[in-house]
Parts: sequence; structure tokens; C-alpha cells
Amino acid sequence: KQKKSLILNFFLLLVILLSVSPTAVEWSAEMPKSVVGLSGSCVVIPCTFSYPAKGKTYTEFTGIWYKGYYEFIVYHTDTSKISDTFKGRTSLTGDLLQNDCSLKISSLSSSDTGPFLFRIEIKDLDNFSYGQNQTSVTVKETPEIPTVSVEEEMTSGKPVTATCAVSHSCPSDLPRVTWNYDGTHSSLSQPQNPSQLKLTSYTLTFTPSREDHNKHLMVSKPSVKENDSVELTCSSDSNPPANSYQWFSSNGMLLGNKHTHKLERVSRHTRAISCTAINTLGKKSSGPQKINVLCK
Ligand SMILES: *[C@@H]1O[C@H](CO)[C@@H](O)[C@H](O)[C@H]1NC(C)=O
Ligand SMILES: *[C@@H]1O[C@H](CO)[C@@H](O)[C@H](O)[C@H]1NC(C)=O
Ligand SMILES: *[C@@H]1O[C@H](CO)[C@@H](O)[C@H](O)[C@H]1NC(C)=O
Repeated sequence: KQKKSLILNFFLLLVILLSVSPTAVEWSAEMPKSVVGLSGSCVVIPCTFSYPAKGKTYTEFTGIWYKGYYEFIVYHTDTSKISDTFKGRTSLTGDLLQNDCSLKISSLSSSDTGPFLFRIEIKDLDNFSYGQNQTSVTVKETPEIPTVSVEEEMTSGKPVTATCAVSHSCPSDLPRVTWNYDGTHSSLSQPQNPSQLKLTSYTLTFTPSREDHNKHLMVSKPSVKENDSVELTCSSDSNPPANSYQWFSSNGMLLGNKHTHKLERVSRHTRAISCTAINTLGKKSSGPQKINVLCK
């Protein structure tokens, strides 16, 4: 009798060990709880899934994305099954065979707001809806404010890097950033980290020199010719383009409202000034939105 219960205990232990073993793959999917997209742009829901393959290889997968509890078919491997509201606007950015179920939704509109869930149908295995983990999509009408920063101190002859950080929702359609560092030279900046999903940085490196006396956003060393004038350009590549600008001194005084601002007679005491580009953003925008560009 004791021997019997020992064997039973052994089997119980084995079952417990097998069920907690890290190699036991279950039906599970990982995706963010929420993503935010910009109206008119695209959004990507990063997603990976797993299934109990138990050493077997499966090659026929049908991936389905639903919106709202099975209300709309957002994506289907058989594209004819996609709901009209999503037809032509959705695709998988990865490969189901590689356990990637990431979904891209283009031409976002506010009606796309809601919970999204993924379902997999694996031929010769089973079907499974990963309803426990869903992603809620939020659609914003106006973009986030980009931030521009530059090293505080500049010395003539030493390269200086300015950085513009722009948040976005669509890695395949990144915001375009143009640097305009004097009245004439502008350059389209390549993103530093395009694979990063949410924040992309663009940098501009320039070397302030005595001869080019108009590129400094802040002059803190007397090695830059004193009493020269400095022309600062405020530029933003927003769409629609900015239609007015404001320049402020560090104490909040309004200095000007043109695209460029000339600082006469720069001295070592010249303080940081900031510029604001204003446009009317988005078709549905109620009023002017501000893009604050801080040029230290
Ligand atoms: C839900 O996501 C978590 C991690 O975000 C994961 O550990 C869990 O297995 C997932 N559950 C299902 C049922 O997919
Ligand atoms: C999985 O779904 C497909 C399509 O709806 C169906 O034909 C198939 O029988 C399902 N498989 C199982 C195991 O339920
Ligand atoms: C700048 O102007 C001030 C006042 O006119 C003068 O005292 C100073 O010498 C000038 N500096 C240079 C470098 O010319």
C-alpha cells in the first residue's frame, strides 16, 4: 500500500514538474495595453504569440485581428474577409511563422478607437483567441510637441549638436525634420533611431565659427565676435506649415513675430531665447495649436 502511494506521489510530482517547466509553451500573446496614433497617420501594435507546438512544426497559419468584441474583422490572412471599414488599411508587419502578429493600421481616424484582439488558427493543431490580452487604440487629432535642445555652451570652432525629439506612432512614415540653422542653409535630418517605436531623435551638428557670425542660438563665450548681429531662424516642418512665429526672451518678453529674428550686438550677456511656431493643425482642429520649439 505504501509502495503504491509512493508511486502515486512520484507521478504527481512529475505532473507538477512538467506543468511548471519553463519549456512548456502555452497559448499566450503579448501586446501593449494601449497605443496612441495620430489621425491620418498609421499606428503599429507590436505583438508576439506562442502556442503549444510540442516539438511539431506547423506551417499553415491564419491570423485574424478583431476590433471590439469580434465586431469588426480588422485583419484576416484571407483579405476578402476584412470588414469594409478596414479594407486596404491593415497589414501584418511581421511573419506569423516567426510568432510575430504585429498589426499596422494606416489612415487612422477617430472611429478606429477601441480594443483590438488577435486570433490564430493553426492547421492540424487548434484555433485560439488571445482575448485576455488586448490593445486599446487611441487616436489623437494633434501631434505631440517636439522638443529641441542644444548644448548650453558654445565655443567658436568646436562642433555643437542640436537635437530634436519627435514622438510618433508610425515607424514606416516618420516625421520629416528640417534643420534651418541660418537663413539659407537647411538640411533634411535623418532620424537617429527609426526603429524606436515612440520617440525619434534628429540631430544637427554644426561648428560655430568667428566668420559665420550668425548661427548661434546662445552665445556664452566672448570668443564669438562681440557686437555682431545674430540671425536666428525658427523652423518647423509641421503640416500644415507654420504660419506665424513668436520669439521670447528668457524673461518671457515678446521680441518679434517673424520667421527669423535678428539679435543685434550679441554680448556675453546674451540670454537664451525661445521661439514658438504656430499653425492650424489637422482638418478637424478647432483652433491654432502651438508647437513650442525651445532654442536654448
Ligand atoms: C498576457 O500578457 C502577459 C505579459 O504581458 C503574458 O505573461 C501572459 O502570458 C499573456 N496572457 C495571455 C493569455 O496571452
Ligand atoms: C479552426 O477554424 C477554422 C476556420 O474557422 C475551422 O475550419 C477549423 O475547423 C477550426 N479548427 C478547430 C480545431 O476548431
Ligand atoms: C562692443 O561694443 C561696446 C560698446 O559700444 C564696446 O565698448 C566694445 O569694445 C565692443 N566690443 C568689440 C569686441 O568690438
